[in-house]
Amino acid sequence: MIRYPYEQMKTMAPPISITGAKGVYLYTEKEKMIDSVSSWWSVIHGYNHPELNQAMIDQVSRFSHVMLGGLTHEPVQKLARKLEEFLPGDLNYSFFSDSGSVAVEVALKMALQYYMNRGETERTLTLALEHAYHGDTFKTMETGDDEDYHFVLKAYGPSRHVIHIPTEIPALDQAFKQYHSRLNCLIVEPLLQGAGGMRMYSLSFLKRARQLCDQYGVLLIFDEVATGFGRTGNRFVSDLVLPDILVLGKALTGGYIGHAATVANEKVFRGFFDDRPEHALMHGPTFMGNALACSAALKSIELFETQDYMAKICRIEAVTRRELNGFSDERIQEIRIMGGCVCIEVKNASVLKGYQQFARERGVFSRPFLNYLYAMVPYIITEEELIQVIQTMKEWFRK
Ligand SMILES: Cc1ncc(COP(=O)(O)O)c(C=O)c1O
Repeated sequence: MIRYPYEQMKTMAPPISITGAKGVYLYTEKEKMIDSVSSWWSVIHGYNHPELNQAMIDQVSRFSHVMLGGLTHEPVQKLARKLEEFLPGDLNYSFFSDSGSVAVEVALKMALQYYMNRGETERTLTLALEHAYHGDTFKTMETGDDEDYHFVLKAYGPSRHVIHIPTEIPALDQAFKQYHSRLNCLIVEPLLQGAGGMRMYSLSFLKRARQLCDQYGVLLIFDEVATGFGRTGNRFVSDLVLPDILVLGKALTGGYIGHAATVANEKVFRGFFDDRPEHALMHGPTFMGNALACSAALKSIELFETQDYMAKICRIEAVTRRELNGFSDERIQEIRIMGGCVCIEVKNASVLKGYQQFARERGVFSRPFLNYLYAMVPYIITEEELIQVIQTMKEWFRK
């Protein structure tokens, strides 16, 4: 039996059986639907993209995977080089893994060990944000702050290793004042907190975070698993404020195959680079640097660069703003728009009950959660298709 994600298996509605996918569309036996979720925000080029397909076909005919333990290969080398050039600043040292959660685990372990290697053994604390989501593995659950996902952790009581603060500068200042000598890192989903409710916050918070991290010698980690590759309307938020460690996942491969990267800057890399074996980063997922994933990632980045994806995202934001301009309903708490993300937060979660079926009947696949009705569409969506997604959301409140 398949166990589905985040579902009570006893009461869940039957999942929709997909028989094909092309462009922004998911196909069942009888219908087609625009995927307004982009398969959990990853499929930025749409499905069944001929060039991405070909890149993987070419690679699979050579080999699909060899481990990186003692071996290397061209796709992983090319991808590491490409990321050096594509990412801002001196974020030049890529550690690959198979999922966003693992890549965040690696980032947190790297931050802790960076200080252990320097003999600063008191720096065991992580500073993180309220409503954060960084994945579903144990350390990422502890670093996240969302009981809706992680209520099992209650069994352990409050964490001794993670402090959570709101996205407000006074709280940030206070946390650094109080804990700076014990902190190894501050980790954030920059500008846009996804699974915690599509919460958007200001760049000034991140700028202040950078200042404080510099002042107190704390590492700044950006988890751009969701925000990377344009979702906020910036290529990477790291283009605006440079972190010490950047985590990428989801759209790294255009959503074609699971892969992720934990990319460190020169300073962090140097913290591990010496003659002592015990200063090495002791991590090695079996499928790190998978050749198919690297080939997909290389092609995905090429498409992103050569087909002016930032202009596409800018257009998505402009159309979304235009279509929702002046729209309101007493059941709505707030409408938030940033780049390729729109969220209608309702006052009561029951307002969204039945929306998924309603949208499906109008040719849109949607998956609202809690109080959040949102869309994060593939960037190749046409204006007409995007209007269909937004009109469906608006219609729900008018019916
Ligand atoms: C910000 C962020 N970090 C980490 C993850 C975990 O990624 P994965 O599901 O690939 O483990 C997610 C997934 O939604 C995410 O949104």
